[in-house]
Amino acid sequence: MVLSGKRILLIISGGIAAYKSLDLIRRLRERGAEVRPLMTEASQRFITPLSVGALSGGHVYTELFSREDEQDIGHIRLARDCDMVLAAPATADLMAKMAHGLANDLASTMLLAADRPVLIAPAMNPKMWSHPATQRNVETLRADGISMIGPMEGKMAESGEKGLGRMAEPLDIVAAVEALLAPGVRPLAGRRAIVTSGPTHEPIDPVRYIANRSSGQQGHAIAQALQALGAEVTLVSGPVTIADPVGVTTLHVETAEQMLQAVTASLPTDIAVMVAAVADWRVATGHDQKIKKLPGGAPPPLVLAENPDILKTVGHHARRPAVVVGFAAETQDIEANGRAKLVRKGADLIVANDVSPSTGIMGGSRNRVKLISADGVEDWPELSKQEVAARLAAWIAAKLPRQG
Ligand code: C5P
Repeated sequence: MVLSGKRILLIISGGIAAYKSLDLIRRLRERGAEVRPLMTEASQRFITPLSVGALSGGHVYTELFSREDEQDIGHIRLARDCDMVLAAPATADLMAKMAHGLANDLASTMLLAADRPVLIAPAMNPKMWSHPATQRNVETLRADGISMIGPMEGKMAESGEKGLGRMAEPLDIVAAVEALLAPGVRPLAGRRAIVTSGPTHEPIDPVRYIANRSSGQQGHAIAQALQALGAEVTLVSGPVTIADPVGVTTLHVETAEQMLQAVTASLPTDIAVMVAAVADWRVATGHDQKIKKLPGGAPPPLVLAENPDILKTVGHHARRPAVVVGFAAETQDIEANGRAKLVRKGADLIVANDVSPSTGIMGGSRNRVKLISADGVEDWPELSKQEVAARLAAWIAAKLPRQG
């Protein structure tokens, strides 16, 4: 079993997503992991220590100053006597405590005392996630080397609000745990991959820009899936609000020009998957100062210039990767457009999807794709973006010429 003998200290903090932690415990144990659960006081309002204990098959830690727990295993040892610490769900409050080094309950104390890899699965209301305070904490935690999975886009369980904030699904958290602890089956070990993801922002002036609705979820999931199969992955991401994938070198860029530079500087690689929704045009007449709106003045003209095509550049590059994959976001004639793109861009595969507004794919968490290659067309059922990523990584692994 992949996680055999691995000991995971699971911190459950207080949010509605805590109910998913029960399934998470089951999934981790199915893979051979030993799960030692620790619950915050607030989490016990959502699920009970009894159910957590029943599923984990052992003691549930709840208090910092419990004489029994201290006799069983001192709280510093609890933080050390494991292979990793996983916080799922990690609330805004827990992340704030972590970012500021607070240690005023058992969970925050464990996180401060831990000297093992830490993975957190944030879950909160979308407004709380996008609040500058939380985003500052996210940056701090990243800089501290904390790995993060999610949050995902979707409907909130309690309010029905849509946005970023749902906890990643248990199986995706398990995959991130495996990526950290157990490289597992690694058909892409020794291979290098470059992935682009997210939108690009093309400045109009220092405060305004042209952008699109790409969330980066599909590209980031692909980077993670390639990494999970053992590849050394560089992800070049446009501006997104989701976390960097675990174990992936992520370069953050804004414009198409910067993305192209970062991609070509990363060559040679064995694999290139260009998922970013690169803006087709940038503003030719860039302004150094904010364009002023003058009383009675006419709106300023925007002159656009074509952006470099990154996929096409890579597909025809002297150091072209062995497998080049592109995406095609289409609203009509999906197959015909996909085939034409395959040739024009010099790709081995075009993953085509219908992004008509009615599909909810752009910015959503699910995807329905057709794979267009020289071998023909494969129509995949509707899947989560993570599942599309995992299948695509397997397709790429099978397609790569053998090494040596
Ligand atoms: O031509 P179109 O934009 O539909 O092609 C989509 C594919 O090309 C995607 O894989 C996208 O990442 C890539 N692309 C690119 N650079 C551009 C435009 C698209 O890499 N400037």
